[in-house]
Amino acid sequence: MIRLLSVVGARPNFMKIAPIVEELNKFPDIEHCLVHSGQHYDDLLSGNFFADLNLPKPDMNLQAGSGSHAVQTAEIMKGIEPILRDYNPQMVLVVGDVNSTIAAALTAVKLGIKVAHIEAGLRSFDMTMPEEINRKLTDAISTLLLVSEESGVANLKHEGVPAEQIFLVGNVMIDCLLRNRELARKSSILDKLGVRQNSSGCRPYGVLTLHRPSNVENPKTLQGILSAVNCFAEELPVFFPIHPRTRKNIERFGLLPYLGSAASGKSTGIVPLDPLGYLEFLSLNDCARIVLTDSGGVQEETTVLGVPCLTLRENTERPATVLHGTNQVVGVDPDRILAAAQSILQKTSSPSRCPPLWDGKTASRIVAIIREYLQRDSPGVAG
Ligand code: UD1
Ligand code: UDP
Repeated sequence: MIRLLSVVGARPNFMKIAPIVEELNKFPDIEHCLVHSGQHYDDLLSGNFFADLNLPKPDMNLQAGSGSHAVQTAEIMKGIEPILRDYNPQMVLVVGDVNSTIAAALTAVKLGIKVAHIEAGLRSFDMTMPEEINRKLTDAISTLLLVSEESGVANLKHEGVPAEQIFLVGNVMIDCLLRNRELARKSSILDKLGVRQNSSGCRPYGVLTLHRPSNVENPKTLQGILSAVNCFAEELPVFFPIHPRTRKNIERFGLLPYLGSAASGKSTGIVPLDPLGYLEFLSLNDCARIVLTDSGGVQEETTVLGVPCLTLRENTERPATVLHGTNQVVGVDPDRILAAAQSILQKTSSPSRCPPLWDGKTASRIVAIIREYLQRDSPGVAG
């Protein structure tokens, strides 16, 4: 019997683990424990995704909650350590770059348990991003580095990671998207927002998401972004599902006047919404004319959907979305955002290509690699 334990905690983790759990369930010789760190705890950022993605309820929830980086990371480590001791998995699976990722990986390796990092190797080369610290540290202590795009392989090799630890497997978040795209199209969100015109079309609209501390903890930056988006949001509504961190700051910095309203289905301006469920958000992005975001996952999803994306950051750890896809990294200067948005809105969108191996089969490649590794590492436990 193979015994694996996965740790998730924040919104983007759930889409990455769902296809892997589905794949693991195909193997009767694999026992799997799913642990939720509790980093995200509101239904709008966590619970609803388990229903949307058909994910089983986590076997355990550490209820770590919010806090400073040190407090949150330490709470997760304290919570996971006794579980790892009791369950004693052959390998721990971690995804992405959030505090739950590094906390679980660090605790596991110190107990002598090997770690597989899914979405390894991505680098923004910006150490002011908490996620960049989490990525580099997690990769440094993981045994299997499962990489979503070619840049990740080059980064890891450049850092001196032995080639036999690096596997280009493709993008598991895109497995999730491809599995759910048709289902998402049945969601009623476009009708609710009053943008569906008929069975085959929508009136043009944009989508905005923001949650990076560098954008939303700085009043001038946040104001600059909202004012730039407002300039073209009179021509087409821009739906803005607001992360709780961002909502608090919009209120705290007195920026509510930049937001419009969704009253009576006649949306104009920047239309504030609660964070959306996965299927509703996928449906909204799928038909959008333009997406503006500082999210990592949304850059990848828009590439596959072929929807033009402006990344409101100075860098991206996902260059494949620029090289192959629809993404442009435009920074946070309001004039630059406005010029880039207007240029997109004035022309018909150009076709985009999917990066190599973003084909919906990443989870099966990941599970095959883990099985093969464990078979070689401890032949008694697998096969
Ligand atoms: C975290 C990740 C980020 C990821 C994002 C996905 C880290 C360092 N950051 O950022 O990489 O892109 O999740 O959305 O791991 N809050 C709630 N309800 C919740 C959770 C949080 O209201 O269920 C509020 C709290 O005020 C909290 C703040 O959001 O202090 C930030 O939450 P936190 O998990 O620390 O970071 P995120 O900004 O969500
Ligand atoms: N997402 C969602 N509802 C929203 C905003 C985002 O379901 O209101 C999904 C999005 O489709 C993607 C994931 O959340 O699958 C990205 O998470 P987020 O932007 O929070 O984190 P990041 O990818 O930046 O780490």
